[in-house]
Amino acid sequence: MILPKAVERVLVPPIKCQGIKTKLVRFLCENITWSGQGRWIEPFLGSGVVLFNVNPKRAVVSDTNLHVINLYREIQNGQMTGPLVKAYLEEQGQLLSQGGQTYYNQVRERFNSQATSLDFLFLNRSCFNGMMRFNRKGQYNVPYGHKPERFSKAYVTKIANQVDAIALILRDKQWEFRVRDWREALGSVHEDDFVYLDPPYVGRYADYFNQWTAADAVELAAYTRSLPSGFAVSMWLENQYRHNHHVDEHWAGLTVRTESHFYHLGATQSLRHAMKEGLILGNRHR
Ligand SMILES: C[S@@+](CC[C@H](N)C(=O)[O-])C[C@H]1O[C@@H](n2cnc3c(N)ncnc32)[C@H](O)[C@@H]1O
Repeated sequence: MILPKAVERVLVPPIKCQGIKTKLVRFLCENITWSGQGRWIEPFLGSGVVLFNVNPKRAVVSDTNLHVINLYREIQNGQMTGPLVKAYLEEQGQLLSQGGQTYYNQVRERFNSQATSLDFLFLNRSCFNGMMRFNRKGQYNVPYGHKPERFSKAYVTKIANQVDAIALILRDKQWEFRVRDWREALGSVHEDDFVYLDPPYVGRYADYFNQWTAADAVELAAYTRSLPSGFAVSMWLENQYRHNHHVDEHWAGLTVRTESHFYHLGATQSLRHAMKEGLILGNRHR
C-alpha cells in the first residue's frame, strides 16, 4: 500500500487534543512512503486523526491515555454508535444550557469517578478550548468552556456523524487499540511495519498522561533509530522565538521535511504566529 497521497477530505475524529495533527495530515501523507505490507504502528495515538486518514489495513495503535483508547474500542465493538452519541449529547446539552458551569462541574465529577466514554466526549466538547488535561491523580481537570449553548442540533449531529464515520472505517480493518507506554509498543516492530511517532512536546502541557521530559525524548530518539522498519516522527522545528535543538542533536543525518502553519494567540490577526513543523524520516530499508 502506498499512502493516500492526496487526502481529498480530511476525516476529522470526534475528539480534540493538544497537538492534534488535522492540519498536517496532507503533509504527512505526501511525505511518508511505505509498502503497506506490515502494520501501521502508532504509539502516541492522541485523537487518532493520522491513523484514520492513513487508513491502513492492519494497525497496532496505542496511548497511555486509557480514555482515548476505550472510546475507540467501544466504537470498534459496536457499544458506542452515532445514534447513541446523538441522544446522549442532546440530553446532556440541554442540561448544560440550564445548569452552565455547575452542570459542567457535575459531569466532570461523575467522569472522575465512573469514566464513561460518553462523558469523556461531552467534556471534551464543552471544556475550555478542546483541551485534554489530567491532574497528578489522573483526574480530568480542564475548566468549563463557557458556552452553555454548545450542543446545538447541528453540532451534535456533526459529532454523531464523526463517530459513525469511524465505525464505518473500522468495519473491515484489523486494528488493535492498546493502553501502553511507547517502549512496549516499539518492542515488537517488524521490518515491514511502519512506525509513526508524535510524542508530546518537551516542556509543554505536562500532565498525568503527558509526563514528557528531555530524557524521554532522547531515549525515544535512540530507540527509534535502531528500529528495523521505516519510521516518521513529527516534531516542531522552530517558531519566531525558539529553535528545537533536540532535532539537530538527536536526529542528525536523517531526512527532515518541513511545513509551516499558523496558530493564533488571542483573538486578533496581529497575534498570528508561524510554527515550522518537521517530519523526520527513516526509510533505511526502502
Ligand atoms: C502530541 S499527542 C499526539 C497527537 C496525535 N498525533 C493527534 O493528531 O491527535 C501525544 C500523545 O502521547 C500520549 N503519551 C504521552 N506520554 C506517553 C507515553 N509515555 N507512551 C505512550 N503515549 C504517551 C499522550 O496521551 C498524547 O495522546
